[in-house]
Amino acid sequence: MNRRQAIQSTAALAGSFFLPKPLAKLFLEAGFTKQDFGPNFKWGVATASYQIEGAWQEDGKSPSVWDTFAHGKKNIKTGENADVGCDFYHRYASDLELLKALNFKVFRFSLGWPRLLPQGTGKANQKGIDFYNRVIDKCLELGLEPWPTLYHWDLPQVLEDKGGWTNRDVLNWFSEYTQLVAKSYGDRVQNWMVLNEPFAFTTLGYMVGWHAPGKKGLRNYLPAVHHTALVQAESGRILRSELPKTANLGTTFSCSFLEPKFNAEKHVRAAKRMDALLNRLFVEPLVGMGYPTDTLPFLRKIEEKYAQPGDMERMKFDYDFIGIQNYFRVIGKRSFTTPVLWANEHSAKKRHVPADQITDMGWEVTPDGIRQSLKQFAAYPGIKKIIVTENGAAFPDMVENGAVHDPLRVKFYEDYLAKVLQAKREGVPVEGYFCWSFLDNFEWAEGFRPRFGLVYVDYETKERVVKDSGKWFQEFLKD
Ligand code: BGC
Repeated sequence: MNRRQAIQSTAALAGSFFLPKPLAKLFLEAGFTKQDFGPNFKWGVATASYQIEGAWQEDGKSPSVWDTFAHGKKNIKTGENADVGCDFYHRYASDLELLKALNFKVFRFSLGWPRLLPQGTGKANQKGIDFYNRVIDKCLELGLEPWPTLYHWDLPQVLEDKGGWTNRDVLNWFSEYTQLVAKSYGDRVQNWMVLNEPFAFTTLGYMVGWHAPGKKGLRNYLPAVHHTALVQAESGRILRSELPKTANLGTTFSCSFLEPKFNAEKHVRAAKRMDALLNRLFVEPLVGMGYPTDTLPFLRKIEEKYAQPGDMERMKFDYDFIGIQNYFRVIGKRSFTTPVLWANEHSAKKRHVPADQITDMGWEVTPDGIRQSLKQFAAYPGIKKIIVTENGAAFPDMVENGAVHDPLRVKFYEDYLAKVLQAKREGVPVEGYFCWSFLDNFEWAEGFRPRFGLVYVDYETKERVVKDSGKWFQEFLKD
């Protein structure tokens, strides 16, 4: 039996226990209710343009780096692309109605830069602007709060052709784009996020080349990091000056709490280096601490080679909130050559982690990690409010008689939410929680195989089936 089958059979077995239980009883077992999080706590789901929209060349949209990358040979493990995907572009109205029926109040989505500005800058595409007008208006009609992210990784390919994030001109490009979205949607949108996980898109896209645009090496990485850190602050400043009255502004960070594998000095130091890279790299310049060069001396090169006078000051901005996105904690260990990240399936198996605690991404389920990460980020100076803007898990779901029983995902959410609540009780100003994700969707270089949704998507027929985890939230969030 391979891992997938093992998880499936565990899931099926657990499913047979899960089904007959009244959902209300499960909440009692979970040990908390929605009220415990407080009346103003924001409950939402998160999505991203390239992962759900499809319509990749409709109504004037130009290709993004992800269109190019997914069409390239062997970049996506399954050979798929998101040309059509979930087809949210055409199904947004019924999808949002479904979201409303699940009792969520917040819809997090991202704006597709190449839909709005097909040339990256210059002439705006009215049809693209109108698409998000329809999404926003539909949210408002249903009583959902629209929470757009400006950038969830789909840079217009035309801008990548000029160097993308490695080109300092990206500051001007992004400023123009920010002004356009503020002007187009600022009358109705009150909550904004600027970047989605800068660490992930710079590292995966410009250092190791696993994600679009597939570039590698420090000569790409260091300028991409620096320009991203500048944009991260600059775009917030623009939104605040364009929308002084209404905006609740934030930006998001990936995070993974680091633990050394052994207590010996060299492993502790290795874990610290990994922590600096994974967790500190983008939040510290934002709060005015500069890059973590104390722990990662190679970052000094940024200051020597790519920074201009005044940049350290320009990287600062006081957002109204920060979003943290957490999936797993990481165990750090010093190896002979380089520090090793112990977060993958291989390491989990070696540590005899049971199969039902390893997700379909190979990530170990580690609920206390989210509490630790919340505390770590809350400790920075000037952090006013935190929202968990993504958290969730992929498991190999199946439709059986029109239902999807996903007890492992239900358990995942119960356990992580319990830890978010604990962090809140311990004083972290955490004021919202968004599930990743609403729909199953295109999981970047992994293709459609890992399913993260509360709602199952049949990619052939585009049919949506609410999973048991979706029903769990529906019940949990009931007024
Ligand atoms: C990203 C999502 C992604 C999720 C699961 C986050 O890093 O923001 O786009 O699908 O993790 O891998």
